Formats: sequence, structure tokens, C-alpha cells
Amino acid sequence: MENLTIDGKRLWDSLMEMAQIGATAKGGVCRLALTDLDLESRNLFAHWAEAAGCSISFDAMGNIFARRPGRDPERPPVLTGSHLDSQPTGGKFDGAYGVMAGLEVLRSLNDHGVETEAPVEVVVWTNEEGSRFAPAMTGSGAFAGVFDLDYAHGRADVEGRTIGAELDRIGYRGEGCGGRPVGAYFEAHIEQGPILEAEGKTIGVVTGAQGQRWYEITLTGQEAHAGPTPMTRRRDALIGASVIVKAVNRIGHQFQPDACATVGMLRVRPNSRNVIPGETFFTVDLRHPKDEVLTEMDWSLRHTVEAVANRGKLEFEIEQIWQFDATPFDPDCIAAVRAGAERYGHGHREIVSGAGHDAVYMAGIAPTGMIFVPCEDGISHNEIENATPEDLAAGCEVLLHAVLEKAGGR
Ligand code: GLV
Ligand code: MN
Ligand code: MN
Repeated sequence: MENLTIDGKRLWDSLMEMAQIGATAKGGVCRLALTDLDLESRNLFAHWAEAAGCSISFDAMGNIFARRPGRDPERPPVLTGSHLDSQPTGGKFDGAYGVMAGLEVLRSLNDHGVETEAPVEVVVWTNEEGSRFAPAMTGSGAFAGVFDLDYAHGRADVEGRTIGAELDRIGYRGEGCGGRPVGAYFEAHIEQGPILEAEGKTIGVVTGAQGQRWYEITLTGQEAHAGPTPMTRRRDALIGASVIVKAVNRIGHQFQPDACATVGMLRVRPNSRNVIPGETFFTVDLRHPKDEVLTEMDWSLRHTVEAVANRGKLEFEIEQIWQFDATPFDPDCIAAVRAGAERYGHGHREIVSGAGHDAVYMAGIAPTGMIFVPCEDGISHNEIENATPEDLAAGCEVLLHAVLEKAGGR
């Protein structure tokens, strides 16, 4: 049977139009979760999906579902999608690609007059990035029953505004969340790392995601005058933080291959040039594909924080605010992705996701798979993030195949 085509130009043009919302001077996107810009991107998506004949709904987390009916309305839908929120200095493709690829699949099914057995839904998950509101993947986590709604609605940004209040403000708080069967979930995404590009492969057949743990650490010393206070009498919370930042980096190097360890956020109080810092707050992100290694990294972090605090006469608090274990994807979904790459003649290799994705939580409640395509120099979470129209189209073809395999149709 002849391969169904997708329209790579339409996919690219939609991505570029979406990237205008929150566009930054350096060519990236700043579209933080539940801001007015996020609202604009949601409305554009809903408008496009309606034009493609879908019915639109959203749930109590503001997750949006664009549904294309199937022949059998009783069959659980096949879901595909990703997120439209971005990092503060994000790129055009992280998240938006998975949503636009899903939409392009629906548009292509329409073009070819294909009716599927099961309904197909394109989903936009709320607050995947975890940048404005921690933790990440909040919308999919609530949908999958990992977070209860009160907890999810209560997550606050640095100004104290909560997810629940912001959903109300932008008019995207619906009723209920999850608790319904999903036939399968697929998510297309840029790799966000260098492997596919380095090996000249177009498709990453994602076998699962590595585990992650997020921490928040506060060190408390004593504010004092930067002039009269002798070096020997200081309890400088920023000095403690600096030592720990370097130690976190060392932990990442120590557990190679595969470990990642990052301090991405640091706040200094009172942040005044002639006051010795009395308090620092910072975050730690630890990742590894093996849970037992993550546990060793966790131990190493805790031990370091305690030792540094004691040495610097600082008080410390360390809280692990989030974690998920290494998550394998469904063998049939992985096979469907591989078969799609074969069918369309795209070079492929198996790959483990270094990033967290909504697919991680969906894997807990539905057969799940992911498709990666290369991104330039492996750079993501950066305004220069880039991918080629050809590779993005290839990933979309594989997504079309995988969705059809699970939804049944032609
Ligand atoms: C999500 O972007 C992550 O931090 O992996
Ligand atoms: Mn993403
Ligand atoms: Mn991201």
C-alpha cells in the first residue's frame, strides 16, 4: 500500500506562525505557562484544530484536547501532542513541534479522507516546562493521577501566583482531569541532545526516559557589612552555595557515563553589593537512566550540603520537591515508531530521552511511545534551538504511521 503523505511545508509554516507568539530578538520564544502569551498560543491552536474539524475541550488543568472522531466512538482515543509553554529563553521547537506534528497528522488524515477506527486527539499539556511553576509536567501528571488537583492548582510562581488562579484568569479551567481510558499516546519531539545529528540518523526510536530528581536548597548565614566585618568572622551563604554548585557539577562528572547534575537557579539575599549574603536559595536537578545510581547521587548531594554548611557555620534546608523513576516505554509503541521509520525510509536508532516529557506520565496509564528528530548541535532550552523542515516532516510521517497503527484505519 502506498505511503500516506503529510504536508511538510504546512507543518513548518504552522510552527513558524506559532513561534511568533512570544518571539524573542534572538530568534527564540519566551512563552511561560499560563501567561497571556500562552493563552494566545492556546487559542491559535484551538482555532486551527477547529478549522480541521475537531471538537475542542479542556480539563480542570487547562489541558486542551482536539478530537477527531473515529468510526467507533466507544474505542479509547489515541492521543498525541506535547506542550506550548516554553523556557524563558526557549526555542521554537521544544513542545510546539509535538503539538503541530499532531495537528499536521489530523490535517493529513482529512486530506486523504481517512477514517480511523478509534478517535484521535491532539493534546496540549499545561506547564510541561516547570520553569514558571515547579514541578514540570504538571498537566499530564494530574491527568495521569500522579498529582492530585489541589496540589497541582496550588503550585505557585516566584510572585506567589498559582496555577489554579492563573487558569481562572486566562479562562482555561475546565471540569475533571484524566480518569478516562487512552488507547495509546505518542509524542514527537526534537532530541534536545547531539546523538542523532552526530550519527546522521533522522529518527530516534525512544525506548524510555531517564529518571530525575529536583531539589530546593536554602543556606542561611548572617548578613553583615562588607567593610568592617573581618573575613574570619563571616557566615557567607553565597560562599557555601558556590562550593555546592561546584560539588553538584563534580557529582555529574563522577557518575559518568550518563549522569547529569545541574544548578539552574540561584537567589541571593539581600542581593546588595556591600552586604555579605545572609541567605541563598538554589535548585538542583539530578538525572540518570538507572534509579540505583540516582540514589547514590542523591546521597552524595546530601552529604556535600551538610558538610559545606557545617564548615561555613551555615544552617541548611534541603527538600526533594519532585522525582520520577527511569521510565521504559511500551514495546508495541516502540515497534510502531520503528516500523514507521522503516516504512518511510528514514535512518533510525534507539535512544533514551535525557529530558522529561509528558510521555513519562502518560506511560503510567497508557501504552506510550516517542519519536525524536535531530536538532542543530544538540542545543535546546536556548533561543538558537533549530531543526530542519525535512527532519521535522520525517518525524511527522513516523507519527502518522504510529497513530494509524494504534487507531486503526487504512
Ligand atoms: C523538561 O524540559 C526537562 O527539564 O527535561
Ligand atoms: Mn519539551
Ligand atoms: Mn523543555
